[in-house]
Amino acid sequence: MTTPKKGRVFSGIRPTGRAHLGNYLGAIQNYVALQDDYECVYCIVDIHALTTVEDTANLRQNVYDMALDLLAAGIRPEETILFVQSHVPQVMELHTMLSMVSPLGKLTDLPTFKDMVRQHPHNVNYGLVGYPVLMTADIVLYKSNIVPVGIDQAPHVEFARETVRSFNFRYNTNVLVEPEMKNTIIPKVLGIDGKEKMSKSLNNHIELAATPEETQKRVMEMVTDPQRLRRSDPGRPEVCNVFSMHKIFSPDDVAMVDVECRRAGIGCVDCKKLLAKNLNASLSPFRARRAELAQNPEGVIDILHDGARRAREIAEQTMVAVRDAVGLPK
Ligand code: TRP
Repeated sequence: MTTPKKGRVFSGIRPTGRAHLGNYLGAIQNYVALQDDYECVYCIVDIHALTTVEDTANLRQNVYDMALDLLAAGIRPEETILFVQSHVPQVMELHTMLSMVSPLGKLTDLPTFKDMVRQHPHNVNYGLVGYPVLMTADIVLYKSNIVPVGIDQAPHVEFARETVRSFNFRYNTNVLVEPEMKNTIIPKVLGIDGKEKMSKSLNNHIELAATPEETQKRVMEMVTDPQRLRRSDPGRPEVCNVFSMHKIFSPDDVAMVDVECRRAGIGCVDCKKLLAKNLNASLSPFRARRAELAQNPEGVIDILHDGARRAREIAEQTMVAVRDAVGLPK
């Protein structure tokens, strides 16, 4: 028997290709856990990707890879709706409607927009300005109550809440549901450089689906305590990113590593080898499931199409009410 769910969760994930440890610890793990208590709708946001990705040659493959990773990580497509954003075109229609109540100044003031302008100064396009409007459309199209996001996306969810209020006020309706943010408390996952957040664009990431050998190679490149220059120097686990990872992936060894690092009983090389071993052990069931799913690409595509069909049913219901509230001719 299934227990009644507490509400509907929506989240979008960008199709950046194969997921890395940062994606997993920051978002995917939480997506999987939320399925126990909520009705979940998870969307691979290919249209959002278009706001910054100019060369789309890999887009299809990247969407597919992300889907494989989500499924291998434990998304259950029989209960959860997993789909690709562009397969539900209603989201673009709702985006247009919402854009009429989205103040331009507010959009260009958002810190995320300013960051993007800094990162892509040659490609500040209209779609990019509307990124949070499209995100709002994602959330409200499915009448979602809860949006699990990391702190960097918090201003977008706040924007979504305000936009819902503006829309409902302007058209004197209550068709749109104001979502709540569920702030995901996540360990800040740094890349192998030990400085920046783990990300594919900085090439400081470790892929979930990497081979054990690749994983070991990446772990051996990890930057440790910069003050520990010689093997005989005592280390400071509290500033070492390898140690942060041990805290997550080495429950049985972390206490030993803490003590031995501080008294130079263990060197960084051995410490990393141990981490690579533990990381590979924890990722091994994921990797096995992923390999199995990858044997049947058609099956994965079918799952996404089935998700889109279920998503479109909810979306069209919302849009019928939205068109009516806006006053468009029947
Ligand atoms: N903007 C989110 C990100 O960059 C992705 C996203 C798109 C999203 N639509 C969403 C997240 C709706 C939550 C809800 O990670």
